[in-house]
Amino acid sequence: MAESLYIPATDSKTEKYESILPQIEALIGGEKDLIANLANISAVLKASFGFLWVGFYLVKDDQLVLGPFQGPIACTRINLGKGVCGTAWKENKTQLVPDVDAFPGHIACSSDSKSEIVLPFSTAGKVVGVLDIDSDKLGDFDETDQVYLEKLIAILEKTI
Ligand code: SME
Repeated sequence: MAESLYIPATDSKTEKYESILPQIEALIGGEKDLIANLANISAVLKASFGFLWVGFYLVKDDQLVLGPFQGPIACTRINLGKGVCGTAWKENKTQLVPDVDAFPGHIACSSDSKSEIVLPFSTAGKVVGVLDIDSDKLGDFDETDQVYLEKLIAILEKTI
C-alpha cells in the first residue's frame, strides 16, 4: 500500500485527477474491505481539492445511511428520491448541481454548501451507495469533475 499521497502543486483539476486516480487505484486495489477503501478515497479527495465535504452514503434496507466521510457532521439517513443523493440513487445517474438552492428538495446538511456532485456506484447492477462531494463555492463542479469522478467510481466498483 502507498504510504504517502503525492498531490501536484497545480490549479489544474485535470492534472490533479490524472495524478491521484492511479494512486487511489494502488491504495484500494489490494484491499477488499469497502469501508476502509471509502475512508481512504474520502481522505484523498479532501486532501487534494480541499472540498467542504467528501463522503459516502451506503444503501441499507430502504435508505441511504452515512458512511465514511471527511468534513463537518452530516445527515445520517436519506430516503430514495430525496435530495441530491436520493435522486442519484433513484435514477442511478450522476447529479451535477452548480447551485444547491436551485435543486428542488436539496437537503442542506451544511448552510456553507453551495454546489454539489453526487455519483452512484453499483455492484451486480444494483446501486449500493453514492459518493457525495460538497463545495462552499457556487459552480465548483463541471464536466471535468464528472468525467474523472466517474473513472474513480469505476475503479471503486472493481473492488466490490
Ligand atoms: N446535500 C445532500 C445531503 C447530504 S450532505 O450534503 C452531506 C442531498 O441533498 O442529498
